[in-house]
Amino acid sequence: MQTKNVVEHRVQKGVYLVDGQLATLNAAPGKRVHGEQLFKRGGREYREWNPKQSKLAAAIVKGLKTPAIQPTSIVLYLGAANGATASHVSDIARVVYCVEFSARAARDLLRVCSQRENMVPIVADARKPGEYGDVGEVDVVFEDVADPEQARILKENARFLRKGGLALLAVKAACIDSSKPPKKMFERSQKRIGGLI
Ligand SMILES: C[S@@+](CC[C@H](N)C(=O)[O-])C[C@H]1O[C@@H](n2cnc3c(N)ncnc32)[C@H](O)[C@@H]1O
Repeated sequence: MQTKNVVEHRVQKGVYLVDGQLATLNAAPGKRVHGEQLFKRGGREYREWNPKQSKLAAAIVKGLKTPAIQPTSIVLYLGAANGATASHVSDIARVVYCVEFSARAARDLLRVCSQRENMVPIVADARKPGEYGDVGEVDVVFEDVADPEQARILKENARFLRKGGLALLAVKAACIDSSKPPKKMFERSQKRIGGLI
């Protein structure tokens, strides 16, 4: 459906440009998660998704070549924090399992999940996927944790991926080695993932 000033993103289904701003269709109408703007257009409510605050949104704006998430996707999200980006994933996908180990962040995450039927909180350590082994098969693993062993964590969690599924890693270069240029850290992570999965 096309509404005036609302255009669906050409690559990522479920993501829109509303008056030129990136947004998702709000699965919990009337509710905000992170102080974002709500836009009502054509009887639907959209939520602003700020690419300066969300790496996944930034990747979409920067020209992600294939869709990260499909409307039918089951997503395992590692490092969900307070649920800000994960809530946008929940606007797009079928189910989002949200793994977070900080008690402080988990408190906010639980509140967000209670407002969204397809968002499942898992208060656990992503380095120990055995703790949430009953998640079952997923279509996408998305990792955004600040850990020097990010690539290894992705490998550990790739056990949940269905055949042909997608793994996405937000690399925190400074967290791996802040003394080295970020580009080197991106290349190192790429190599490690290539050899790991
Ligand atoms: C950069 S923040 C994530 C931001 C979030 N993805 C967003 O865009 O809204 C990283 C989060 O990963 C969590 N984290 C780091 N290591 C973790 C681990 N081993 N298991 C689970 N969560 C972890 C931190 O507590 C923090 O909340």
